[in-house]
Amino acid sequence: MGLQHVFEAEFSKPTVFLDRNKIMPHYTPQNLPFREEQQATISGIVAVTLRGQRPDNIFIYGKPGTGKTSTAKHVMDELCSFAEKKSLKVKHVYVNCRTHNKKYKVLLKSLREIYPSEPDKAFQGYSAAYLYEKLVSFVRDTQTHLIMVLDELDKVRDLDDLIYSVTRSNDEIQVGGITVIGISNNLLFKDALDPRTKSSLCQQEMIFPPYNAEQLRTILEQRVQEAFAPQAVDSGAISLAAAIAAQESGDARTAIKLLLRAGELADDEKTTQVTDQHVKNARKSVEQEIILEHITVLPEHEKLVLYTIAALTLNRKPLQRLSGEKVEGVLYSGEVYEEYERTAKKFKFNDPVSARWYREYINQLEMYGLIVTTASGPGVKGQTRFIKLKVDALKIKEVLEKEFAG
Ligand SMILES: Nc1ncnc2c1ncn2[C@@H]1O[C@H](COP(=O)(O)OP(=O)(O)OP(=O)(O)O)[C@@H](O)[C@H]1O
Ligand SMILES: [Mg+2]
Repeated sequence: MGLQHVFEAEFSKPTVFLDRNKIMPHYTPQNLPFREEQQATISGIVAVTLRGQRPDNIFIYGKPGTGKTSTAKHVMDELCSFAEKKSLKVKHVYVNCRTHNKKYKVLLKSLREIYPSEPDKAFQGYSAAYLYEKLVSFVRDTQTHLIMVLDELDKVRDLDDLIYSVTRSNDEIQVGGITVIGISNNLLFKDALDPRTKSSLCQQEMIFPPYNAEQLRTILEQRVQEAFAPQAVDSGAISLAAAIAAQESGDARTAIKLLLRAGELADDEKTTQVTDQHVKNARKSVEQEIILEHITVLPEHEKLVLYTIAALTLNRKPLQRLSGEKVEGVLYSGEVYEEYERTAKKFKFNDPVSARWYREYINQLEMYGLIVTTASGPGVKGQTRFIKLKVDALKIKEVLEKEFAG
């Protein structure tokens, strides 16, 4: 039997979307409302390349979904296209350090962007020192101003080394130079930096604040016009998506995902109108998805700590307070650490982290909203912290078990 009918059905399927790509999280819109000021500031800093000067390094931070990546990419694209028109040697590379999480990998990715026509394996198998030399000689020989946008910079394991090398390279270059724009959504990261790294990286510093509900509404309205069929989205649906995202985190990505999912639900129902009910129904799956995204990018041992918390929570009987009140699923920080050491061994991860790092991980997990902690009141042995999981223990345990096995 011919398959034409399958394709015909897909082709003529009614849909609320006009251009679904425009509401995918990775799409960068041309127009970024409420980030005019940040764009102007970054542009002002990097514009000195047009007069042959080396700009300061910039460190950008702010919570997830506040437009850091989109803004940085947009400014770089505009700068480079302007420079090209004037035949000036300004270039940028964009590296997401979530995937390229070592100095070596960052250098490799940068070289691949600089020499796109070289085969992938051209730079493979060399030492970091060799790659570094390659990069510096490119900048020196072509007298280029290279701006390295290092997104999710906190994920680089040998960051001090990377920043030191890149900064030092400028001593070897007469004309041109290398500037770093570092980006992170980890608000604790800056303070944990080595003082020398911090002073190099944070020559200029910028914070991106969360969006409020009204701002999110405007952002969504603009996106709806590009992505959805005319009149397909109720204004109540837009308001609700904006309100939910504002209440949770002020995160534009969450708001956009809510509308995307709501649109998909409307398509599934074969209705032509996206309503606030679709947004309500989208909420749970979007939240679930965001949590899982957070989890899969955690460092290995942080995943182990989270896994341990989930496993202990599932075995835990409710805790009896002195007042007689029962508290569900509360763990002692100390017992989690001990169990984590055993878990690490069980899954054959070497070198469990020190208690100091463990506390850092607990802080991070709390910041991501995966757990909450409280200091123990008087009457509990010594000074300890209570830990409570805020997400579904079974789900976490399943997801992480699959990862550790694979
Ligand atoms: N001011 C804005 N106007 C329009 N869309 C925006 C705006 N800010 C963010 N977005 C959209 O929200 C999503 C998330 O933005 P972006 O990736 O820039 O956030 P981020 O700050 O880099 O987040 P993270 O820290 O999680 O990487 C993207 O789809 C982006 O297009
Ligand atoms: Mg980003």
